[in-house]
Amino acid sequence: MAWVVAEVVEETAGQWFERDLSLRAQLVAASSRASLAANWDTERKAELERQLIEIARDERVMAVAACSPQGALLADTPQFPEALSCREIGLRAKSEQSSSATLMRAWSTVSRLPGGSIHVSAIPLWDGGRGQIGFLLLLQDMSYAERREELTRVFLVVGFAVLGLLASVFTIFVARFTRRSWSAELRNMLRHGAQTRPEFQPILRDVRELIEKVMAEREDAPGVWTAERLKQTLGRHLQGERIIILANREPYVHERMTDGEVRVLHPASGLVTALEPVMRACSGVWVAHGSGSADRDRVDRYDRVRVPPGEESYHIRRVWLTREEESGYYYGFSNEGLWPLCHLAHARPVFREEDWAYYRKINERFADAVCAEVDSDDPIILVQDYHFALVPALIRGRLPAATVIMFWHIPWPNSEQVGICPWRQEILEGLLGSSILGFHTQFHCNNFMESVDRYLEARIDREQQGVARRGHHTLVRPYPISLEWPVRWLSDAPSADECRRRVWEDLNLKPDALLGVGVDRLDYTKGIEERLLAVERLLERFPEFRGRFSFVQVAAPSRTKIERYRQLNEAVEQLSSRINERFGGEEYQPIILLRTHHEPPDVFKFYRAAHLCYVSSLHDGMNLVAKEFVAARDDQQGVLVLSQFTGAARELTEALIVNPYDLEKVSTALACALSMPVAEQRVRMRSMRSLVAHFNVYRWAGEMLVDAARVRSRERLAGQLTESPEVSVGG
Ligand code: F6P
Repeated sequence: MAWVVAEVVEETAGQWFERDLSLRAQLVAASSRASLAANWDTERKAELERQLIEIARDERVMAVAACSPQGALLADTPQFPEALSCREIGLRAKSEQSSSATLMRAWSTVSRLPGGSIHVSAIPLWDGGRGQIGFLLLLQDMSYAERREELTRVFLVVGFAVLGLLASVFTIFVARFTRRSWSAELRNMLRHGAQTRPEFQPILRDVRELIEKVMAEREDAPGVWTAERLKQTLGRHLQGERIIILANREPYVHERMTDGEVRVLHPASGLVTALEPVMRACSGVWVAHGSGSADRDRVDRYDRVRVPPGEESYHIRRVWLTREEESGYYYGFSNEGLWPLCHLAHARPVFREEDWAYYRKINERFADAVCAEVDSDDPIILVQDYHFALVPALIRGRLPAATVIMFWHIPWPNSEQVGICPWRQEILEGLLGSSILGFHTQFHCNNFMESVDRYLEARIDREQQGVARRGHHTLVRPYPISLEWPVRWLSDAPSADECRRRVWEDLNLKPDALLGVGVDRLDYTKGIEERLLAVERLLERFPEFRGRFSFVQVAAPSRTKIERYRQLNEAVEQLSSRINERFGGEEYQPIILLRTHHEPPDVFKFYRAAHLCYVSSLHDGMNLVAKEFVAARDDQQGVLVLSQFTGAARELTEALIVNPYDLEKVSTALACALSMPVAEQRVRMRSMRSLVAHFNVYRWAGEMLVDAARVRSRERLAGQLTESPEVSVGG
């Protein structure tokens, strides 16, 4: 646009310049006419030339020539160009004036010479009785005109650009201002909907619907879930309320060491690994058993402590248990009863009446603690795991409008197995106090529904995936748990090479050693004995790995007051020694057993250093160690060998999936993992990493919360319909 305007302006200005130059030429000729006429004679050529030079003194006049009426040159200034002649110009001028003999009036043109453009004027001169004595050729420099045109063009383009910019800024400013005041007005209307004028009500309704739709789409959107996205989802559904998590295990334990110093430990717990980042994102309160030896020294008068240390963003509310209470509720009913009941791992469940009494009492205590922390009638409470099967119904009794999300972190067995529990009915009823009951897999949901069908009077709604009982509805859905992404322990972790160097040094491994890793609580469900036997079988069947392959088992002691766990401890110890004696020597140990608590950075160092990770659970709800190994391998190397009896095996299908009882097949898989080409490792690892990144724990929590929001709005609507006398349901 600016360019077109510049062209038009240039052309017009060009015409003006030419006319101006023609007039100047005529003026110059007129003012010198008398003296020129006096010397207009070949006889007086020298005088005529002097006069012409005088005329050419004008800074714009380049050259002048005196020509006879017929076009002969009488005199000229020294700079007169050879390319121009009186004859040629005379002829052109005359022909344009349709005159053959004389030039009738002043004529001008522009000549393009190698040095630039020149304005040429031919001005006829008359002298009284002599008539026309000839014509004067006056050449004027046009370069200044061209320079002016160029300048005009630049000014125009720049001017237009500046104008355009100003116009845009102005438009944006006006648009912003208008939108701001419009959205402020809209926000105001949305907030004070009831007071809005009736004519605005339809538009308000449309806007509300649109907001609902956009928010729902955002929450269902396929993009990656982040802490921020979870926070926003929560903000919308909780309207600024605090989130309350109830879990037996606390995320930070204050432990007094033998030297008297208090250290903050991160317990080895999949539940904590998953939920702690959720709590960081959402803030609120985590109600838990205060189990650390220095826990009481670190709480305020409400038994609360702010965590995480150094970046406090939420509270732990500690609940205290006596030794007897812990023994009956935690070790007894939870871990000698429900734990083996739910895991098919060949440990006989033990149900004692006194444990059950403690379980009920402690569930009441935790329910009270939770209810003391809420600050509304309809809070959202996330209850975790088999330690609190009775809590959902207890909370429902105290806060009928609460939204209780119960997540069962371990498998749910088939209904026959459930029948072993003498208090199966109470357990099922307790769980059905939840609004949402989550398991890791659909299979566990189905088992639960069958158990309800078998042991309770309830309506199973298979289409909606729920159970209705005594007017209350519970959604029963799978929500496969996962990790935060990216995992915080990796943010300042050393490179995989550096981790390998350190681990090699710590474990005194040979440079060409091959390393496998296992990370678990020392629990019989994890198949640690089967794992060690598989390593032994590998060394039996594939001698090339003897002296080269070592398996490091990081084993956090767990529930050591229970006999079965003590037995396991001993069994693992003996098995390791036997294998080491059989295949090891002075310099080499096939099994390296590290039976102590390791903090997450150390665990991740092993994950990053190892060539393979073997997760051999005999039965496991999810198993987050498998996902942690995948998350740790940003070098896209390493092979995961994974038990088919974990929830994780349904998602991490690029792992080498094995039956941990089948030692032949597992040893083949281990050999295969140790000789897997780098490119294949990369393909498998990349695919698993993308899955874990996408289905991370923010998504896990977010999806449950979005479902909870739907339940809440459905319940509110149902409440409104029954409360409102004007509305009748079903005609
Ligand atoms: O795997 C089941 C589970 O309860 C997890 O939820 C938890 O991470 C783990 O066991 C730890 O158990 P505990 O709290 O008894 O040490």
